[in-house]
Amino acid sequence: MKFKEIKNNVYYCGLNDCERKIFDELIPLEQGTSYNSYLVKGSLKTALIDTMYLPKSDEYIKNLDENNIAKVDYIIANHGEQDHTGALPKLLKKYPEAVVVTNQFCKNNIMEMLLIPEDRIQVIKNNDELSLGDKTLKFYMAPGVHWPDTMFTHIVEDNLLCSCDFLGAHYTFDDIFANDSKELEHCAKRYYAEIMMPFRKMCQKYTKQVQEINPEMILPSHGPIYKNPKFILDLYADWSGDESKNLVVLPYVSMYGSVEEMIDYLADKLNKAGIQTIKHDIVSDDLGDLAMAIVDAKTLVLGASMVLASPHPAAANAAYLVNLLNPKLKYATIIGSYGWGGDLTGKLTNMLSNLKVELIEPVLIKGKAKADTFQKLDAMADTIIQKHNQ
Ligand code: FEO
Repeated sequence: MKFKEIKNNVYYCGLNDCERKIFDELIPLEQGTSYNSYLVKGSLKTALIDTMYLPKSDEYIKNLDENNIAKVDYIIANHGEQDHTGALPKLLKKYPEAVVVTNQFCKNNIMEMLLIPEDRIQVIKNNDELSLGDKTLKFYMAPGVHWPDTMFTHIVEDNLLCSCDFLGAHYTFDDIFANDSKELEHCAKRYYAEIMMPFRKMCQKYTKQVQEINPEMILPSHGPIYKNPKFILDLYADWSGDESKNLVVLPYVSMYGSVEEMIDYLADKLNKAGIQTIKHDIVSDDLGDLAMAIVDAKTLVLGASMVLASPHPAAANAAYLVNLLNPKLKYATIIGSYGWGGDLTGKLTNMLSNLKVELIEPVLIKGKAKADTFQKLDAMADTIIQKHNQ
């Protein structure tokens, strides 16, 4: 495959992985992903910025050969995770003069994870520069989006910013440049929700920093290149911003239908009051959709049946995930139904301890909803409506 030129001897040399269905054994991929790598040919030195996931490394190296890349001086590791560094051991054998350039944190990671020898690594710090002759690489440490070792590399003269995982998308493509479509926005939001949202405040900080660098293009580690950086930066400013929307998300698991009946009743009351709702069946729907739904939501209503006097494991899984992702929710509550009794609300509330939310009085019943249940749900709806209107 012939490498595509992005600008002035800077090339895309990454690969699509359309077959991959799940990332980190956790995140379902709707259409696979891409592992982006960039080749920068300076007048004196050549650098690769990020490399390749190990299972694709032979194809990646074959492409380097087909493009006659006989010598690489520097391999920039913007982050140690192995979807970008998996090919490093093979590359260091192939290019015996090459040095891995990275920060101290990433150095430790690649030495531990990939057994990269210390004498093949050059450590750089924030704002350091590396000359390739007529091109300069400048490094910006960006810990927290999403690993402590993350950094960005700015190709200064061409004003191209390699933003690592930040601003990326699990998205495959033929044209390396983003089309700013709704489909891309959907994939980028899903990626933000699943990977970046736990670091929302850091996303705010680095969105501003990238805006200040003002690159002509953003070259992320997954997904297409943004020729119009404003497209993705405006989305990140919105998603990571502190404002939540007039939206209630209702994930639920319902063994015999009574929890779902209560969820539907509440959602209907909220809709009639002008509040948008997203109902999510935890058992049959993709958890990635739940992650996306809570990016903007103001309120979470978790619906759960009970199993063995405890929350249904599917509800516990959803609570665990929401707690890990730590969205900008303002309010949360629980709707539940039990057969024998036990502790539902206490256990689920404890599982949401990361969230900085105000808890609204839960509704917990035995068996099926009755007249007084609907009164309690009316009160819950009134409270949510009043909170959303504040
Ligand atoms: Fe795409 Fe954090 O690796």
